[in-house]
Amino acid sequence: MPCYEICSIKNHANHAYAYHQYHSFLFQIKWLSFQLLILSILITIFFSLNLFLSFLAIGHEIGSQNFIVQVQNGNKPLEFSDVETWYMSILNSLADHNNEIIHVYKTVFHGFSTSLTPQQLQQLKKRPEIIGVIPDQKLQLLTTRSPLFLGLITSSKTPNNLLKKFNYGSNVTIALLDSGIWPERESFNDKDFDPIPSHNWNGVCEGGEDFPKTLCNKKLIGVRYFNKGVPKDEHEKPTARDTIGHGTHTASTATGRAVNNASLLGYAKGEAVGMAEKARLAIYRVCWG
Ligand SMILES: *[C@@H]1O[C@H](CO)[C@@H](O)[C@H](O)[C@H]1NC(C)=O
Ligand SMILES: *[C@@H]1O[C@H](CO)[C@@H](O)[C@H](O)[C@H]1NC(C)=O
Repeated sequence: MPCYEICSIKNHANHAYAYHQYHSFLFQIKWLSFQLLILSILITIFFSLNLFLSFLAIGHEIGSQNFIVQVQNGNKPLEFSDVETWYMSILNSLADHNNEIIHVYKTVFHGFSTSLTPQQLQQLKKRPEIIGVIPDQKLQLLTTRSPLFLGLITSSKTPNNLLKKFNYGSNVTIALLDSGIWPERESFNDKDFDPIPSHNWNGVCEGGEDFPKTLCNKKLIGVRYFNKGVPKDEHEKPTARDTIGHGTHTASTATGRAVNNASLLGYAKGEAVGMAEKARLAIYRVCWG
């Protein structure tokens, strides 16, 4: 499904705000579900691999478990040229040591993962450079349960303080540059919505063919399409109506309202809900064909 830069550039000229949002939301929201999926797959591969390795584990102590160890890297003594050798020397200071480093973490936080016996765990925790030692957990692949996965709600569906404080995002307008939207979906109903906040919105609901403006509401507040420059053979009706489903998917992942009994061909039945249920949507269709 191609998205033409020229549409985005056109969008830029007309809607600098939306173009700005392109960068933040294309990466943060549009790909969120893919990232979560890939993360989940990686986690699953990681655990399968660990399981496999633990069968092979020679010299692994009975009762060992994998841990993620967060380290204060500023404490690294100068004689270690890199953190890996330092981490290894920390592990070599533990009782019965024959630990291997599974991963070294350098981006989101500093540390490593390894397998530890209960005794080693206690020894490691006492070291001053160790900030935290977190047991590795087996996670399930999730589809309709991302808010729980992200900690936005509890398993009893109680929202956390972040959601409550910001009234489920009611002051936020999320702009998506994608394949449009299917406006009749339950995910986009505006029941119990406060009026559109006027201080941060001055866009329009343009709709298009088979998309009367009346389909906009207090949730779906902006709808435009940009099809100039799209090759003729990929040209479709001039409308923001999403015939592919991708834009509808990304919009509901970000801000869809809770819909009961949702499933994918009967799989993953449950409540489908976006991250910020009351955030508003500004939809810009730039993907065609
Ligand atoms: C939304 O924005 C208005 C105006 O800035 C503010 O008064 C209100 O408290 C905000 N509401 C939330 C839930 O953040
Ligand atoms: C979900 O659908 C099933 C049958 O398809 C129905 O029996 C059930 O009441 C529905 N649950 C909710 C919460 O709508």
